[in-house]
Amino acid sequence: MSTTIAIDGPSGSGKSTVSKEVARRNGLAYLDTGAMYRAATWWVLDQRIDPADEDAVIAAVREMPLTVPVDPDDQVILCAGHDITDAIRTPELSRVVSRVSSYFPVRDILIALQRDIIAAEGEPDSYSHGRGIVAEGRDITTVVKPDADLRVLLTASEEARLARRAKELVGTVDAVTIEKTRGIVSERDRQDSAVTQFLEAADGVFTIDSSTMSISDVVETIENLAGRVT
Ligand code: C5P
Repeated sequence: MSTTIAIDGPSGSGKSTVSKEVARRNGLAYLDTGAMYRAATWWVLDQRIDPADEDAVIAAVREMPLTVPVDPDDQVILCAGHDITDAIRTPELSRVVSRVSSYFPVRDILIALQRDIIAAEGEPDSYSHGRGIVAEGRDITTVVKPDADLRVLLTASEEARLARRAKELVGTVDAVTIEKTRGIVSERDRQDSAVTQFLEAADGVFTIDSSTMSISDVVETIENLAGRVT
């Protein structure tokens, strides 16, 4: 049977690391939907479109030639022949991504693509040979795949999330880097939560608070839950 695991959570909850590891250990495909919104933002900026120009943004995203990876060990993202894997993670792009993601027609385009990828991974000739997929983002449990076999909201205290992000973004965790990160992370979560509901679990969604858990503890908890529901 093909398994679909949907994982949502805010920035710094550890969802990418955990989702990739669950996929890797279980031979599942992995879909990073945040990378798709980031790629759309890169494409808009590359086309010199003003992110505030909603109609132009929508038209551009509709034509976006994006290749979405599903191998958890090979997350190279290509757009119009460019390797944009690193370019979609810059602080400049992170500041604009919430604006592009807030346009509902943009979401509709990407959600349709995400549903196609999730459906394809249930097929025997897919990357996962039909075993299924772990898809992560902000609205997978509620909008993209509310009928997933397992739906998880991964949360963590603000301190834990800021410390993880500070380590990722600046490399060190101290009072100064945490404060620097607070502005970036909290502002993005605030903007995103106006559009997607990822701060509280919807009905039937398991909440895992990862604040004091190791990555492998979270991975095992998800595997145990998946074993119960699939
Ligand atoms: O997960 P990540 O931080 O890479 O996501 C980047 C951005 O993409 C988020 O800040 C949010 O604006 C958008 N996003 C979204 N819906 C998703 C995943 C990401 O709106 N399912």
